[in-house]
Amino acid sequence: MPCTVIVGAFWGDEGKGKIISYLAINDKLDFCVRTGSVNAAHTVWLDGNKYALHMVPASFIYEKSRLLIAAGANVHVAQFFKEMELTKIDGRRIGIDKMASIIEEKHSVQDKASAVNKGIGTTGWGVGPAIEERARRTARLAKDIPELEPYLTDVATEINDGIDAGKNVLLEGTQGFMLSLFHGTYPYVTSRDTGAAAICSEAGVGPTRVDDVLIVYKAFITRVGAGPLPGEITMEEAKKRGWFETAAGTGRNRRSAPFDFDLARRNAKINGATQAAMTKLDCMFPDCRSAKKFDDLSEDAKQFINEVEKRTGVPVVLIGTGPDALDIIDRR
Ligand code: IMP
Ligand code: MG
Repeated sequence: MPCTVIVGAFWGDEGKGKIISYLAINDKLDFCVRTGSVNAAHTVWLDGNKYALHMVPASFIYEKSRLLIAAGANVHVAQFFKEMELTKIDGRRIGIDKMASIIEEKHSVQDKASAVNKGIGTTGWGVGPAIEERARRTARLAKDIPELEPYLTDVATEINDGIDAGKNVLLEGTQGFMLSLFHGTYPYVTSRDTGAAAICSEAGVGPTRVDDVLIVYKAFITRVGAGPLPGEITMEEAKKRGWFETAAGTGRNRRSAPFDFDLARRNAKINGATQAAMTKLDCMFPDCRSAKKFDDLSEDAKQFINEVEKRTGVPVVLIGTGPDALDIIDRR
């Protein structure tokens, strides 16, 4: 997997954190680059411990992984240090691009005070206002913050040198493609493009240097905040089906809907997906819980995966069967 981009297929919360943590351990990821900002929480479960990460790359659980925060990312300084403490990682492992911009408390205040943002149902972290400020070219950058000095680096150069040296590089997308500012359900979207090409752009990797785009599907669809969700079911029905979730970042109830094959196909195509992951198969087919081999899945579950492959044209190479990083069927 020399250079792989991970992109969320729907409205975020597909389980990218879980897939990344598996790849970190199994594929011995040399570099993991976080894009986006603090609005996105990636959940990593390891040995019964849960980590909801807003800043630190999800591959922190593999101790040889170099952890990087992209130039296009927005750094929340207090949250960064909170997660450094939570994950207990050695500070020498993590680097922040000197050109990454800074998200501040005032941005959160602006976000929460905005009637438009309330209507969209933003997370309230202030990412929209922080990006507005960056576009106005008045934002502070990581290089302007003295406490970040020990971590500053040139992420693009580090990872491109890594790719030249044949290292395993993973570009960690955030949110999902339907929350893309350009390709999603505008205006009910986040404030940046969340697609595979934008992830490369934020990190500083040219399109010819990427080997795989791994699109992450979940066996059912969820979204938080306002905006369209085709096929939406009631919360009562979601609870009955075992699909009810609350957001890792904000604690809000997630809305839910069945898997959408047409949307899965469209988004695989636009992102140039070469591989797919399917998470939470065990929520749809409880008899698949903790399965480690495709042959151990029930007929219904196998049929579902086969149908996804047939209708999207993308091989489903990783299948999540439980919350732990290692509850995975790896078909690569
Ligand atoms: P913002 O990104 O906080 O401005 O919120 C804009 C929209 O994106 C809202 O509908 C949020 O619920 C949604 N959103 C932002 N980040 C995430 C995420 O990580 N997972 C799911 N939804 C998100
Ligand atoms: Mg999330």
